[in-house]
Amino acid sequence: MSPQDHHQPQDEYRMAQALRLASRGLGLAWPNPAVGAVVVTPSGEIAGRGWTAPGGRPHAEAIALNHAGAKAEGSTVYVTLEPCAHESVRGMACTDALLEAKPKHIVIGLRDPDPRTAGAGIERLRAAGIEVTEGVLPEEVARVTLGHLMRVAEGRPAVTLKLAVGADGLVPEGDGKPVWVTGPEARAHAHLLRARHDVILVGRGTVVTDNPALTCRLPGMAWRSPIRAVLDGRLRTPPDATLFDDIMVPVWLLCAAGVDQPNAELLHDRGAEIVPVPVDNHGRIDVQDALETLSHRGITSILVEGGPSVARAFLDADMVDEVVVYQGRGQAGSDGLTPFAGDGLDRLAASGHFTLSATRTFGPDRMTSWRRVRSCSQALSAA
Ligand SMILES: NC(=O)c1ccc[n+]([C@@H]2O[C@H](COP(=O)([O-])OP(=O)(O)OC[C@H]3O[C@@H](n4cnc5c(N)ncnc54)[C@H](OP(=O)(O)O)[C@@H]3O)[C@@H](O)[C@H]2O)c1
Repeated sequence: MSPQDHHQPQDEYRMAQALRLASRGLGLAWPNPAVGAVVVTPSGEIAGRGWTAPGGRPHAEAIALNHAGAKAEGSTVYVTLEPCAHESVRGMACTDALLEAKPKHIVIGLRDPDPRTAGAGIERLRAAGIEVTEGVLPEEVARVTLGHLMRVAEGRPAVTLKLAVGADGLVPEGDGKPVWVTGPEARAHAHLLRARHDVILVGRGTVVTDNPALTCRLPGMAWRSPIRAVLDGRLRTPPDATLFDDIMVPVWLLCAAGVDQPNAELLHDRGAEIVPVPVDNHGRIDVQDALETLSHRGITSILVEGGPSVARAFLDADMVDEVVVYQGRGQAGSDGLTPFAGDGLDRLAASGHFTLSATRTFGPDRMTSWRRVRSCSQALSAA
């Protein structure tokens, strides 16, 4: 019998609680995965809850065990990802913390494919006589943990592509500032998406045309603004771009490696970090290399916010895990651009690579979200 076969119905309920806690760390926990943990006593009391702290430490289990104190002994601990088995300079391994706390039972969503753990945490817990159940809500856990799983399995962060289109399915052209085709509710949701990712990425064309700030502007959530990254092969981002005004939020300019970059010093003086990336056969920054570069920097998730040329490049590379489309009621008009530089929205359904996963309305606007069919299975096969 596989370990998945004998979990109890309440395990799924508790794992869902742990997953909601895990989600709180999205956009903050990198370079570590956003994990959630709940400690439940034999009488059913929740004695401790935790989620990965900003910057990745302390881990969720350490926080939850700390809350629970002596009540952790004999408890059941629900944790979305296998507890780490490796000590780090920043803290003890969660497996050791659990062994010290002496729970009776540990319920795990997914194994951690990180080679430093990869089943070793589970083995050590079982060897100490603790009952371990694994594989509870694996698909849901894979979705929340996708960035980490992709980073380990594919060497790249999870990618969400976001775009806003008019009722005609076209992208309105910028005119020195962003043009809004959707109302405040949809835009607020899009800012929440920003907060849940480690990096927002756009092409240089969007910086030049829209001059966006690319920060999270929900009340009280400015501190959740992710790093802003621009694909800018020859470092031609204008030094007076609005991006540079907020010095608290880093700007990474991803440029072509091995090419003389005369503006590098000027842009560096404006606060940008210059990040060289190999180019493809057309002399463009290679999407896969850009993602690998971000992954090496610890990034687990990125939100691609356009424009159409960059959106197309990511789709062509088959490196988009989710697409979120906000569709307003107004028309983008005769100057409207096709959302994927030559291809319309129908590309998503026609490609067979994506399935419609959710629809929502925000006032007069409609959001549809599309999942890449292969991403979840790729992530699950890694775990
Ligand atoms: N409604 C929306 O959701 C939304 C969102 C964003 C933008 N927009 C609109 O989209 C328009 C800008 O889009 P765009 O397509 O012209 O520009 P873009 O996609 O923002 O940027 C394209 C530029 O990125 C650089 N780049 C580097 N590597 C690349 C790669 N591998 N693939 C593609 N580009 C790469 C290139 O500049 P270098 O050659 O200099 O490297 C390229 O010209 C504006 O009108 C803006 O208002 C709409």
